[in-house]
Amino acid sequence: MKDICVIGTGYVGLVNGTCFAELGNNVVTVDIDAQKVESLKKGVMPIYEPGLEELVERNVQAGRLHFTTSYEEGLRNAEFVFICVGTPEGVDGEADLKYVRAAAETIAKTMTHPLIVINKSTVPVGTGDWVADIVRNTQPKPIQFSVVSCPEFLREGSAINDFVHPDRTVLGSLDKSASEAVAQLYLPLRAPIVMTDLRTAEMIKYASNAFLATRISFINEISIICEKLGADVIEVAQGMGFDKRIGHHFLQAGVGYGGSCFPKDVSALSYMAQTHGMHPQLLNAVIEINAFQRKHVALKLHDLLHDVAGKTVGFWGLAFKENTDDIRESPALAIIEALLEQGATIRAYDPVAMPNTAKEMPQIIMCKNPYDVAEGVDAIVVATPWNEFKQIDMERVHKVMKQPIMVDGRNMYEPQKMRELGFIYRGVGRGFNGEGVN
Ligand code: UGA
Repeated sequence: MKDICVIGTGYVGLVNGTCFAELGNNVVTVDIDAQKVESLKKGVMPIYEPGLEELVERNVQAGRLHFTTSYEEGLRNAEFVFICVGTPEGVDGEADLKYVRAAAETIAKTMTHPLIVINKSTVPVGTGDWVADIVRNTQPKPIQFSVVSCPEFLREGSAINDFVHPDRTVLGSLDKSASEAVAQLYLPLRAPIVMTDLRTAEMIKYASNAFLATRISFINEISIICEKLGADVIEVAQGMGFDKRIGHHFLQAGVGYGGSCFPKDVSALSYMAQTHGMHPQLLNAVIEINAFQRKHVALKLHDLLHDVAGKTVGFWGLAFKENTDDIRESPALAIIEALLEQGATIRAYDPVAMPNTAKEMPQIIMCKNPYDVAEGVDAIVVATPWNEFKQIDMERVHKVMKQPIMVDGRNMYEPQKMRELGFIYRGVGRGFNGEGVN
């Protein structure tokens, strides 16, 4: 059992803190947001993440997981402190490090014994050195500490499973013994541990996310070519993926990637390259293709509806992906915003992301379920691939729509079947114009 302090109760902090407690460690999670801490103490989760609530409850009851606003309490017995605060996108794609700075300064002012400071937040290459400087320069008197970079690879929606079954753990530090101490925390997970210097570890995170985003933009570009040449992108991706050098993951064409990570991280990497005099052509193309992909889906709607002003469009899904209530950089919301500006009315349903969306877009008519969305609409856009959209009674949907137009931005349905049911159907990259291959 180790004593761990986690700074931040966002996705990264809350999931890591809880999972470390589940492994038998004593974890104190600190957040400056008193309301959030109070809610967590009462068992109310600030985010939707499958399995998290039960895990928090179990570990709080077992006395291994604590929530507080006090750094003193968090650091009192800690041997390790994880910085898991947000790094929002600043101007020009640059990462905004104000929360990391604040955490580092407060740790420095509060620590009373040697500590290993572990950075989990996604930060520009070189930030680990900067954090070390901040701690060193802010400490009222010198106390030994080391900084380790341990980048986060969890995905929202499957974060707990990803924590328990990581593909690898990356630890970067100039202090090898500090990395080895952190490695002990991860040994029970039995995954490969990659030890590097600080900057290399920070770069591994950016390069990993940028590569995954590149795969998505690649297949999205292929999907557009498929629509011109009459090929089916699902089968193309499948055929490619059997090649072990390529693999099947992250080759699903759709509305483009969203969320709090890929858009921000690809922009931040591009920014870092540009500020060092480089012209990151591939990264910029990835960003451009992703923006175009959202437009491409909206254009299909325009083609079919001609003028969207005065029309009602239904949305199945609002979250940036399934199994989360996160709407940050959600392709659905970007498309909806454009449609609203052009005078369309929007009806929508999402299993968990409606409350978050309603706060930002009160104009959307929120519905009880996918069938309710379909009532009287001129078209439906499938924006998030939730499981519950897989087995929809399409005959029922068809009956209640004003016009049977469906733009399936996630390729959830079979074009031919949809056409047989009487829909005017458009997928992404599924034969000529996304209509299917005959
Ligand atoms: C991503 C990475 O996958 C994690 O490894 C990383 O830890 C995390 O960012 C982070 O930096 O914190 P996440 O953003 O939660 O995780 O979600 P993903 O499952 O990677 O999906 C990102 C976006 O790509 C979603 O909008 C998803 O719908 C889209 N996507 C994914 C596709 O359009 N096609 C695909 O084949 C896969």
